[in-house]
Amino acid sequence: MKDAKPFPVLKNDNLLRAARGEVVDRVPVWVMRQAGRYLPEFQELRKQHDFFTVCRTPELACEVTMQPLRRFDLDASIIFSDILVIPQALGITVEMHAGVGPVLPQPIKVPEDLKRLTPDGALSRLSYVGDAITMMRHKLEGRVPLIGFTGAPWTLMGYMIEGGGSKTMSKAKAWLTEYPEDSKLFLSLLTDSIVDYLEMQVKAGAQMLQVFESSAEHLSKEDFLQWGVPYLKRIRDELVDRLTKKAIPVVPMTLFAKGAGHSLKEQSELGYDVIGLDWTVDPIEARNLVGPNITLQGNLDPQDMYRGADELRDLTTEMVHKFGKSRYIANLGHGITPQTPITSMEVLVEAVHKAL
Ligand code: CP3
Repeated sequence: MKDAKPFPVLKNDNLLRAARGEVVDRVPVWVMRQAGRYLPEFQELRKQHDFFTVCRTPELACEVTMQPLRRFDLDASIIFSDILVIPQALGITVEMHAGVGPVLPQPIKVPEDLKRLTPDGALSRLSYVGDAITMMRHKLEGRVPLIGFTGAPWTLMGYMIEGGGSKTMSKAKAWLTEYPEDSKLFLSLLTDSIVDYLEMQVKAGAQMLQVFESSAEHLSKEDFLQWGVPYLKRIRDELVDRLTKKAIPVVPMTLFAKGAGHSLKEQSELGYDVIGLDWTVDPIEARNLVGPNITLQGNLDPQDMYRGADELRDLTTEMVHKFGKSRYIANLGHGITPQTPITSMEVLVEAVHKAL
């Protein structure tokens, strides 16, 4: 360990308590993409530095991670990075184009291209994320927990085949039917890298982990159960196994499978502590499906952040009332969008804390 200094003692542990089903002082709230373009200070910093330079420079990643905490009374921080750092570490070029999003100029088109991937040494090429996490734990001074994250196998496979975001993920879906065996190999290879990566994040100081299966929305229930779930289960099982063998405490884990509200029961049986919900899911129905021993996270429509303060306050309060104070982490149902007014974040956070 480079930085052997003990981490500061955690003061606000409501997020971790909620994840473990313990009593909380207040409903914890954080927001997916809480560090991002809706903040002028983020935009300012991005004018000087390329997106992946920010990710790769621990001082910059920590500065951006800290930005939302300076403004809002949030109950968690999430390390600034991107899910596409794993494809990069596997030898695939990823560029961030303004107004477009991620672009992978040399995508994986056919099974033969899988030979281009370089899983050996991938973890060492991601060490900058560990460095940023360790630095951030110190900079946080125990104020709130630090969440680490990864993309899930199907979601990463999708970006790597499509060469970027896609409205349909049709090329990636075509792989599942045209090259089922190679698809399994691809997903397995990604799963292995993800487990290594999450273990490294925990060793570096991540206090909770979230797995983003953002592209679950493109799969039918049957396909999600075949191409998403087994690998999501492997991630959880293998990580717990590895940490336990090394006597490293297991941290709570969240699965956020956007658009997979059709499989909440199945998701709740994978060993994750927290299931993230998008806004298409009704909180009460979700609770009935997952039972009492899973924590739910979510799920306000990010678009509701564009409503007037009174309406937003009412919607947030109603949401918290539906979920209740136990086993609940308030969040949006997906990432906050770039034009969101800053005052909406203030209203959201305050309304969550005041609701119960
Ligand atoms: O939540 C946080 O504050 C941590 C930061 C974070 C980013 N990306 C920073 C980012 C997290 C958790 C992610 C995860 C991520 N990245 C996901 C999963 C979550 C989700 O939204 O479904 C996905 C699919 C990606 C891939 C990705 N990165 C896309 C599709 C885009 C473009 C979309 C957009 O908002 O422009 C990015 C770019 C990105 N990642 C930005 C940020 C702040 C904006 C780019 C910029 O600064 O120029």
